[in-house]
Amino acid sequence: MTPSDVKATLSFSDNSPSVELPIYKGTMGPDAIDIRSLYSQTGKFTYDPGFMSTASCNSAITYINGDKGELLYRGYSIDELAQNADFLETCYALLKGDLPTKQEKQKFAETIAKHALVHEQMQFFFRGFRRDAHPMAILTASVGALSAFYHDSLNINDPYHRDVSAIRIIAKLPTLVAMAYKYSVGQPFVYPRNDLSYSANFMRMMFSNPCEEYWVSDVLVRALDRILILHADHEQNASTSTVRLAGSSGANPFACIAAGIACLWGPAHGGANEASLNMLKEIGSPDKIPKFIKQVKDKNSNVKLMGFGHRVYKNYDPRAKLMRETCYEVLNELGLYNDPLFKLAMELEKIALEDQYFVSRKLYPNVDFYSGIVQRALGIPTSMFTCIFAMARTVGWIAQWSEMIAEPDQKIGRPRQLFIGYIPRSAKQGNS
Ligand code: SDX
Repeated sequence: MTPSDVKATLSFSDNSPSVELPIYKGTMGPDAIDIRSLYSQTGKFTYDPGFMSTASCNSAITYINGDKGELLYRGYSIDELAQNADFLETCYALLKGDLPTKQEKQKFAETIAKHALVHEQMQFFFRGFRRDAHPMAILTASVGALSAFYHDSLNINDPYHRDVSAIRIIAKLPTLVAMAYKYSVGQPFVYPRNDLSYSANFMRMMFSNPCEEYWVSDVLVRALDRILILHADHEQNASTSTVRLAGSSGANPFACIAAGIACLWGPAHGGANEASLNMLKEIGSPDKIPKFIKQVKDKNSNVKLMGFGHRVYKNYDPRAKLMRETCYEVLNELGLYNDPLFKLAMELEKIALEDQYFVSRKLYPNVDFYSGIVQRALGIPTSMFTCIFAMARTVGWIAQWSEMIAEPDQKIGRPRQLFIGYIPRSAKQGNS
């Protein structure tokens, strides 16, 4: 990070002394005004509740250009990764900085496979839940519980411990997600196998049972792998910021990832894929779209077009385009090209993209708009969609967490506030 020659000068209309603030230039994207000294120089805070104009950190992992609809992981475009890499190669790049060589990939894949098993005691955490518990509740709890099993690698300042924790959490998420699903359908847990690829292993843990082997088609495995690549990381989104804030206190990585899972669950964030599919089911048929769009435009309805809009993308989310292609491939492979929900989604997208209400607000489909349709075609139940998102995003979370811990001047995150409450008053007055 290099300070720019240009400085920012902040002056006040009441002639309070103006201050000069350094500006930092990144390799791409907006410059950042360094306001760290603002409070000590002026006694004033900045005010930015939704972090609309705030860079919380510097990072070299993921870059988004919202106006161009561009997404890069470590400089590699999401389109190229989706076409030419698999999820574990993408994980390697996010964690280590570059795509792996053939040998590095093989060693990484073997290491991940060898850590996919969870401690046999973990299954007893599941027994405490009702069978109809939401799988995200189970996943949040079980991932947090992992920190009770790995006391040998919780020294976050030891790079080796950070690497081991990253491997363990990336490897065990599919096992825990599949266990949450099996528990919900009353079937026995299926152990991971070391001879299968990451995504094939997950599909088998989800859908095989003791009574019959599950043979997964390469097309479906490739589709799942692509879904995981598209969801792997996304700069400083709400759940990643949650992981960073939790990590800034020195909390262990499993607890931090559990915090990220909890945040991702919200319908405004990762929960949107489940909400988007439920929305399509609720609309039911193309002739009902105009009535639904009318509801969305009525602010009092609180109805949103789920899977649409984004804080950063003010153009088409590149992941949505790739997800729609994957949708098409999977539905074709399964002979479901006339899938009514896919046709409804495309009709809804077409109508919305021609409607000034959405165009004027730069609302385009985001990653969640089509992902539910693909996952449903893969046989994944709607309630599991956000668990799949969490499984994919775990690598992004742990890579961002590790980058933050390794940051030389890393400090605990502690925002301030604009206080609008009572001035001091006496409790003796009672409620008179
Ligand atoms: C993800 O941050 C990330 O990178 C997240 C993510 C990732 O990979 O980590 O990309 C994953 O979370 C994708 C987003 C999934 N969420 C949804 O699809 C839920 C529906 N979308 C909205 O809730 C909303 O678009 C957000 C939360 C995604 C973005 O909200 P912003 O940036 O705060 O925008 P806003 O709420 O200020 O909206 C601006 C205007 C408002 O109207 P006006 O007040 O100007 O009249 O657009 C409207 C909003 O009412 N609007 C929508 C809308 N999204 C915004 N109106 C209808 N439907 C929508 N979906």
